[in-house]
Amino acid sequence: METYAPTRKEAFELLKEYNQDESLIKHALAVEAVMRHFAKKVGEDEEKWGLIGLIHDLDYEMFPQQHCKKTEEILKKRNWPADYIRAVLSHGWGICTDVEPQSQMEKVLYAIDELTGLIAATALVRPSKSVLDMKAKSVKKKWKDKSFAAGVDRAIIQKGADMLGMDLDELFTDTIMGMRQAATEIGLQGNNQDE
Ligand SMILES: [Fe+2]
Ligand SMILES: [Fe+2]
Repeated sequence: METYAPTRKEAFELLKEYNQDESLIKHALAVEAVMRHFAKKVGEDEEKWGLIGLIHDLDYEMFPQQHCKKTEEILKKRNWPADYIRAVLSHGWGICTDVEPQSQMEKVLYAIDELTGLIAATALVRPSKSVLDMKAKSVKKKWKDKSFAAGVDRAIIQKGADMLGMDLDELFTDTIMGMRQAATEIGLQGNNQDE
């Protein structure tokens, strides 16, 4: 079934079928936007990278104890291509799967998943509450403050950056740029427009 490629509409409907929690949907949209940004940057398939980002935590709300495993089951049943499924599984490498990120697409997903959470949290404590005017420097400051967004595993992000051969500044900048593309949908457009 390698020829079948899911559409954005299908993927989003599937996401909504398994997720009600608004913060999880925003996380999915943030990861999608960043994956699209990186795909564009390296001249790869934006749609494919984006959909994988959108769906990567599909099972998390309903099956947190079987995270990744359930998504694999659901996507297989729907004939999603094997490389899409592998990529989704690889974001949980060392946590809920033993699928090590290999392709550039997988490494990017691994590196930016947790990072989108740190960037969103950083944006929300800024006066503008926005990613639109935010720089890597702000994230760097919060990166060092381990008590800030303590649930964000810095070691995973660092490991992802190392896999990609990127320094943190570059990774932060690209991830912010990706999140800007979906700023409104993920609630990080800030209060600029209201003024
Ligand atoms: Fe996950
Ligand atoms: Fe995630």
